[in-house]
Amino acid sequence: FLVCLLTTGTADAGYQYCIVGAGPAGLQLAQLMKAASSSYAVLERSPIAGSFFQSYPRHGKLISINKRWVDSRNTEYAMRHDWNSLLTEGSEPLLFRSYSQELFPPKEAMVAYLNDYWRVNNLNVHFNTTVIDVTRSTDGNGFRVSTRHASGSKKIYKCEVIVMATGLPNLRPGEFPGHEYTVGYDSVSLNRSDFDGKRLLIIGKGNSGFETAQHVYGQTRLTHLVGRQPVRFAWSTHYVGDLRAVNNELLDTYQLKSLDGLFEFDSVNIIKNARGELCLVNDDEEKLKSPDSTWDTDSRQYCYDLAVRATGFVWDSRPTAKLNVTSVFRGKYPRVGNNFESVDAPGIYFAGPGLDFRQSAGGFVHGFRYTARALQRLLRVKHQGERWPAALVDRPLVGLLDALVRRINEGSGTYQMLSFLGDIVLLN
Ligand SMILES: Cc1cc2nc3c(=O)[nH]c(=O)nc-3n(C[C@H](O)[C@H](O)[C@H](O)COP(=O)(O)OP(=O)(O)OC[C@H]3O[C@@H](n4cnc5c(N)ncnc54)[C@H](O)[C@@H]3O)c2cc1C
Ligand SMILES: *[C@@H]1O[C@H](CO)[C@@H](O)[C@H](O)[C@H]1NC(C)=O
Ligand SMILES: *[C@@H]1O[C@H](CO)[C@@H](O)[C@H](O)[C@H]1NC(C)=O
Ligand SMILES: *[C@@H]1O[C@H](CO)[C@@H](O)[C@H](O)[C@H]1NC(C)=O
Repeated sequence: FLVCLLTTGTADAGYQYCIVGAGPAGLQLAQLMKAASSSYAVLERSPIAGSFFQSYPRHGKLISINKRWVDSRNTEYAMRHDWNSLLTEGSEPLLFRSYSQELFPPKEAMVAYLNDYWRVNNLNVHFNTTVIDVTRSTDGNGFRVSTRHASGSKKIYKCEVIVMATGLPNLRPGEFPGHEYTVGYDSVSLNRSDFDGKRLLIIGKGNSGFETAQHVYGQTRLTHLVGRQPVRFAWSTHYVGDLRAVNNELLDTYQLKSLDGLFEFDSVNIIKNARGELCLVNDDEEKLKSPDSTWDTDSRQYCYDLAVRATGFVWDSRPTAKLNVTSVFRGKYPRVGNNFESVDAPGIYFAGPGLDFRQSAGGFVHGFRYTARALQRLLRVKHQGERWPAALVDRPLVGLLDALVRRINEGSGTYQMLSFLGDIVLLN
């Protein structure tokens, strides 16, 4: 037994809930669990909270609206327009509005906010703790979580329930011919001079592609964006993850017949020609077929000095691989049921972006703070035998009408997570 301890690491006291990841989703759950006096720990790989926002958005500007002033003193209503603050139960809320005056704040403000949030709320976060893998306990009760500390030491946590809040940390690998010639959005140079006079191709017409274009389109000779579909504008689709106006300056130079451009190809194929240029070839379009042509204005306009891949992010399946959590949703999220529980491994839940993809606001802080709260309530019902919070309305018609009108006018969770979260009225 001793030998076993020495080689596999020391056992930690158990927790009912282990949350993996101290991003906004993990911290949100932790605060609610603390307010409910649940037994929980957050295991975080980085030395700080919110490490995603140390690196992203790559060019620094959040696309979450920091609406500091609203025409009401109602704090629930104000959360309809505050896209960055987390919810606080049981004590004074910590609001993002005092971390930046910008409507689209710098990413550093989010890092500062999240680190104050765990400190002010005194959350039980174990930093420098990477979850290597999760397996079921041999006695059938819960899970064993193997972790490695930054110092090299290892430790096992025993947890009844696991909530993975590890976000979407990995850039989607290039899946098209010639992707090896491209630079990922995660490592594209931030030094504008590196783009002086360059012809730039960006693969991917979402926010990260346009954000990259906007940073350097004053330097490049031309900037082209290519993707499978026409651009989807957030102001038209009402989906917060589609192209936001704050990132779309390049459309202006395109529509005003400057040298930037956008196109749709079913499949992207990049080759390197004899001059070392990166050329886009496409079977559908005859004129793109001869990348070595010397015509200055025809096929060579599809050859570039630099190609950047901005094709989205995917989850990291490694920590739950031993539990065979392999079913994938939309090519990037682990598949969960309506209670956020993995369809492959009961007892493993996923918080953060996912279930409502392209349906509601759950890909962003202002959406998943509410799905995290719903998950925390579900967990208390399922694992602690508690009841879902409810209010009794004693004067059926007047009281119910008053409660419903109030929720419709003020409620922030149902407002942000439209068509996904709702209130239920039970009539006796
Ligand atoms: C380019 C880009 C820009 C975005 N901009 C915005 C924006 O402006 N506003 C917005 O609201 N949303 C934005 N998003 C969405 C954003 O990803 C989420 O809002 C947010 O980061 C998700 O929070 P999370 O807590 O689920 O995950 P994350 O913030 O990614 O947190 C996950 C945490 O888990 C930790 N972790 C991962 N694996 C392990 C492990 N094995 N062991 C221990 N810890 C681990 C990580 O270190 C990290 O701290 C953007 C996304 C992208 C891709
Ligand atoms: C985490 O590790 C860093 C060094 O990588 C160290 O400076 C920091 O104090 C550690 N934090 C905790 C809470 O252990
Ligand atoms: C930016 O790039 C240019 C040339 O590409 C280089 O001369 C300059 O030193 C770089 N600046 C920084 C801060 O790295
Ligand atoms: C995962 O799948 C493998 C191969 O099918 C199987 O041997 C193993 O028992 C499974 N593990 C769990 C935890 O279900």
